[in-house]
Amino acid sequence: MSAASPDRDPDGGEGISGELTVRTVAMPADANAGGDIFGGWVLSQMDIAAGIAAAERAQGRTATVGIEAMSFLRPVHVGDVLCVYTRIARVGRTSITVAVEAWVRRQLSSERLKVTEGIFTFVALESSGRKRPVPPLPGTGTA
Ligand SMILES: CC(C)(COP(=O)(O)OP(=O)(O)OC[C@H]1O[C@@H](n2cnc3c(N)ncnc32)[C@H](O)[C@@H]1OP(=O)(O)O)[C@@H](O)C(=O)NCCC(=O)NCCS
Repeated sequence: MSAASPDRDPDGGEGISGELTVRTVAMPADANAGGDIFGGWVLSQMDIAAGIAAAERAQGRTATVGIEAMSFLRPVHVGDVLCVYTRIARVGRTSITVAVEAWVRRQLSSERLKVTEGIFTFVALESSGRKRPVPPLPGTGTA
């Protein structure tokens, strides 16, 4: 029996950081010829989750401008429940940086494992597609 408790990183890292933003199941159509899930599919789910967090903070349209520090720590299998957590790490003049962690719950297991993490940066956009300043948080008067 595993000594690892649920929601802990078995590599000894911290537990889950951030707010649950996307939760979905890895399907056979998302797998490569070896049976593992494409990294690009996981990256896409993380971009969607980070985009939700950034758009909420920007109170409107955003676009991804940078993805850095991506680490694929362990594979995702068909049937795993993928949970993507987001945390606003930095707010600049027009940019918002989101720290993203993807965790899975394996089939028939309650243990969660961190599979991927990365840093995504978005720029707040006007409807025309031009960049705009990130608005202050409601009620604070500060960005
Ligand atoms: C978003 C866009 C309008 C920004 O235009 P720009 O005038 O070149 O922007 P800037 O160089 O002034 O950068 C704007 C902000 O983003 C930040 N930024 C730009 N590139 C970045 C990168 N690769 N990583 C992290 N931050 C970046 C800048 O530091 C700046 O932040 P700040 O205003 O908070 O200081 C333009 O780059 C664009 O349309 N890109 C395509 C976006 C897109 O289509 N994404 C989906 C890809 S499929």
